[in-house]
Amino acid sequence: MNEIASPANDTFSADWRNFASTHRLKTANVLADSLEVKWDDGRISHYHFLWLRDNCPCRECVHPGTREQMFEVVDAPDDLVAASVSLGAMGALDVHWSDGHRSAYEPGWLRSHAYDETSRSERAERLRSVRPWESNLKIPTFDYASVMSADRGLLDWLLAARDVGLTMLTGMPATDEAIELVARRISFIRESNFGVTFEVRTKVEAVDSNAYTSLPLPAHTDLPTRELQPGLQFLHCLINDATGGESTFVDGFAIAAALRADSPEDFRLLCEHPVEFWNKSPQSDYRSFASVIGLDARGEVSEIRLANWLRAPFNLPAAEMGAFYRAYRHFCALTRDSRFIVSRRLEAGEMWCFDNRRTMHARKAFDQASGKRFLRGCYMDRDELLSRILVLQRSYPEATLA
Ligand code: OGA
Ligand code: ZN
Ligand code: ZN
Repeated sequence: MNEIASPANDTFSADWRNFASTHRLKTANVLADSLEVKWDDGRISHYHFLWLRDNCPCRECVHPGTREQMFEVVDAPDDLVAASVSLGAMGALDVHWSDGHRSAYEPGWLRSHAYDETSRSERAERLRSVRPWESNLKIPTFDYASVMSADRGLLDWLLAARDVGLTMLTGMPATDEAIELVARRISFIRESNFGVTFEVRTKVEAVDSNAYTSLPLPAHTDLPTRELQPGLQFLHCLINDATGGESTFVDGFAIAAALRADSPEDFRLLCEHPVEFWNKSPQSDYRSFASVIGLDARGEVSEIRLANWLRAPFNLPAAEMGAFYRAYRHFCALTRDSRFIVSRRLEAGEMWCFDNRRTMHARKAFDQASGKRFLRGCYMDRDELLSRILVLQRSYPEATLA
């Protein structure tokens, strides 16, 4: 006889998060291949036998230390059915399986993972946290000290970085180390050929990037030349005494949405035709081949990839070249449209932190003779940000973007 673990201790151990019991189970009926569960608010959820068996949280099925699954669903008998079900301790759903195994599912967990249409669309709504913006954005701004000293302060900043994709930190010391300290407060830095952190200042003989000149940089994402573009970019200003050099930003997702609405054909071309981006220098030669607009598995825009000065010649069928130039120029023209542009000069002690796979950044030309300009930057992958948010939310489950 298998032991039924107690809900109070470790039955529901397959996740490190807690799932509040917001609803009670009223009834559970055994159907041919599933259970039909009725909730106290009238919602009906079906759970297939294999799905339930697959997600049994008992300590035989899930390792209590790692909370990772040991059971493999391929080992369930083909003819597995629920022999009986009952409501157990703390309102849990107890299932006695036809092969003798027993499982107990906590109602908060069951409700949070229900896959009836209503539950699925509620969850999709919660996951759709992206907030598109245009030129009237009030840039979410946070204080360095509160981010460094309080977890809640850190979480508020990270939620804005995730959902708005453009944030500013003020009150930072104008030191070389500050950017690394604040980035490591989130997670691991993504090192690149430009270093763990990189300096943005004019070099006497710039050979590895236009960024190291005083030229204007058009709206771009950094490292579009890499298979995975860095998710977050940090740019910390140590000195800005030069005339010019203002930072400007556009929401690449808002622009992609506008393009999709106005010119679906241009949108399609930028999604479907990969473009080569390259970063050539005497020491390295990075190349990627990917589309300007990246879609995820659900067809939603998940990434923008574009830096005009890092782009190799288009390689497309001759019949499509004309249309592709129309689409590419259309997208670039939208990045220059004042409807979308947010502009702000970065001063010493301030730092930008933005979603480099969404928010395109640009800088105006500056006058090298008028004074010094020195920024330090670094990168981080998007999933470092998302992981840190989820861990912080275990302590602040209610936290959302203000
Ligand atoms: C860069 C860049 C911005 C700036 O180095 O890629 O965008 O303001 N710099 O210098
Ligand atoms: Zn089990
Ligand atoms: Zn850049």
